[in-house]
Amino acid sequence: MDRRTFLSSVVMAGGATLLVASQGNALRFFPHTGKQKWAVLFGSRYGAARDASIWISEGMGGIADVFDARENPDLSSFEAVVVGSGIYMGKIDKPLDGYLAKNAPHFSSRIKALFIVCGAGDTPRGQGFLEGLTKACGVKPPLTKVFPGRLTRRLLNAEDYKVEEGVAKRRNQPYEDYDRLQRKDCLTFGEETLAKG
Ligand SMILES: Cc1cc2nc3c(=O)[nH]c(=O)nc-3n(C[C@H](O)[C@H](O)[C@H](O)COP(=O)(O)O)c2cc1C
Repeated sequence: MDRRTFLSSVVMAGGATLLVASQGNALRFFPHTGKQKWAVLFGSRYGAARDASIWISEGMGGIADVFDARENPDLSSFEAVVVGSGIYMGKIDKPLDGYLAKNAPHFSSRIKALFIVCGAGDTPRGQGFLEGLTKACGVKPPLTKVFPGRLTRRLLNAEDYKVEEGVAKRRNQPYEDYDRLQRKDCLTFGEETLAKG
């Protein structure tokens, strides 16, 4: 194989990898068979909404497949969907928002629950963030939840680091990590969702 052929096959292999990723791989940890096919779709910059999604699935007995909106998953085969997002400057996750703009009309009738993960937690301000998610989904299901999130400064990109530094300064608070997301709350929400959804 000459150099050019080798390089083009590497590019093709890379393309194939991207293609697989764009079809969306579910995070399957404890796949059990449920009566309904459940999916949990999340948008997360720094992992709290992803962890909440996995724990919500665990609360359902591990029957839900968990999908990152960045992977552009195909949810057409799922009968029931839960959607959740982190909050950044008052808004839901951008890739999730883009995914919902394109795809929510196809599955909004199957959305059973929504959740938010944010610094404000379950306060009136935190509850207000549900509005952005209901708008993006085109539906407000009876089951909604706002979980308190977490901040891990070493994970933040430079812009986000500055934003959060400014927030701490304005509030006259020390700029430090916090971790308020509780697994048991997510398990309970998963259990409730499965029971009522
Ligand atoms: C750049 C940035 C902006 C944020 N803006 C808000 C906000 O407007 N309101 C809020 O309650 N929390 C805000 N937070 C806190 C996040 O919602 C919280 O860290 C959440 O856990 C993020 O979810 P994720 O870990 O799934 O990305 C912000 C965090 C970052 C990094």
